[in-house]
Amino acid sequence: MNYLIGIDVGTSGTKTVLFDERGAVVASALKEYPLHQPHNGWAEQDPQDWKNAALDTLREVMESSNVKAEDVKSIGLSGQMHGLVMLDEQGQVIRPSIIWCDQRTGEEVEDMLKVMPRERWIQITANPPLTGWTAAKILWVRKHEPENYKRCRHILLPKDYIRYVLTGVFATEVSDASGMQLLDVPGRRWSEEVLEKLEIPRQWLGTVYESCQITGCLLPDIARKVGLTERTSVAGGAGDNAAAAVGTGVVKDGTAFTTIGTSGVVFAHSSKMITDLKGRVHTCCCAVPGAWHIMGVTQGAGLSLKWMKDNFCQDYVARAREEEEDVYELINQAVEKIPAGSSRLLYLPYLMGERTPHLDPDSRGVFFGLSAIHTKAHVLRAVMEGVAYSLCDCNDILREMGIKVYQMMACGGGGKSPVWRQMLADLYRCQVQTAKQSEGPALGAAILGGVGCGIYESVEKACEALIQPGTSCGPVDEEAQVYDRYHQLYKKLYVSLKEHYKELAAL
Ligand code: XUL
Repeated sequence: MNYLIGIDVGTSGTKTVLFDERGAVVASALKEYPLHQPHNGWAEQDPQDWKNAALDTLREVMESSNVKAEDVKSIGLSGQMHGLVMLDEQGQVIRPSIIWCDQRTGEEVEDMLKVMPRERWIQITANPPLTGWTAAKILWVRKHEPENYKRCRHILLPKDYIRYVLTGVFATEVSDASGMQLLDVPGRRWSEEVLEKLEIPRQWLGTVYESCQITGCLLPDIARKVGLTERTSVAGGAGDNAAAAVGTGVVKDGTAFTTIGTSGVVFAHSSKMITDLKGRVHTCCCAVPGAWHIMGVTQGAGLSLKWMKDNFCQDYVARAREEEEDVYELINQAVEKIPAGSSRLLYLPYLMGERTPHLDPDSRGVFFGLSAIHTKAHVLRAVMEGVAYSLCDCNDILREMGIKVYQMMACGGGGKSPVWRQMLADLYRCQVQTAKQSEGPALGAAILGGVGCGIYESVEKACEALIQPGTSCGPVDEEAQVYDRYHQLYKKLYVSLKEHYKELAAL
């Protein structure tokens, strides 16, 4: 039997999963690390933490299984998108990575619009300049940290830094590279025009592969350290959302998924390149060669619930420890008892600004309607509902663009919650389904490795053979009507607050 590994470099931790070639999990390991927020709206992580987590979890899955090193044919990489990793001449990390949810680059986005009109940005990169994407972050470092910029020789994305650690190769692949805003997205190659306009040297960027191509093999030292061999290949892999698409079988027109991880994403596959001229949703190359995806992004999805849990739910955390239960399971149980609408309490999930539909780095979270009748469970439910309203905004835009979806999957940590999935089904007014395999991005990345080394004929064929349906839930009309009314008010709140957010940012 052949085996494959998927490594997902996430925001809360790195997860490594060893699969057999039928897609069954043989071993899995997770290592968490911190998110640093030196200022309001900034977000950084230490690439060294990703490196340690990737190597430790690789070693752990190999040690905890009886799989022979030579039977592991390939590793696929998946990771949080848009993060900027800068390396010097010696391949050393120059500064902490500025990650996807960082919102410091409002001015740099304006600068990008000065060198090239918005329409041209959309023609080439399929998206208008965006604060969280990599190009604006490179310009920020050039402006604010010239010493660091001078030392830069390589620019990598988070999972591509792990590729460099594992193989010594500087490379990326089309899905993640789309989120750098340096790629010609229709042509699936670096854009000479963009690089010239931004004065970013081409040689700082790695080779761009398709997601299922092999990019190199493990370095001898690394192979020895983690219990694999120098013949274990490393495939392109994909950005976490494009990898989750493969891991949930979203590889054909008409299929889509909603993921609730730290961010929340509504993602639809498309064999045609469609863009939103208002820039509210992103268009990127997807992991299927010759296809794209359109996705709307909620910046603070699982992040909102985790923030609540970490700061205000020590009682739940303690009880979970006592009862050896997952804390989120206890939260689900409490939230289930609260009626839809949380007894007139609304939450805007803009803890790290918002992307879809507002593209507003200055927006921030709000509880609206707090009353003395509300308990902690009401607040927790309002948080989950606020995230669901934001995801519904994403889905509405995909519908407005004419994207027809006949199958909506749910995945990510939040996608495991039946109550959260029911909110999505009620708001989207469609069935929301899970895949039996819950490993999402790690499975997707492993499948891409399997295609790369010839175990599977194509991404689509592998998904057809491996991904099986899990549970499904459909809209409940009574609740859906309640949510519709709350969602209308939710949308008005941002409009009322828009100007005040600017004032808040200027304080
Ligand atoms: C997508 C995005 C996030 C990150 C982190 O544009 O920024 O989904 O990939 O998961």
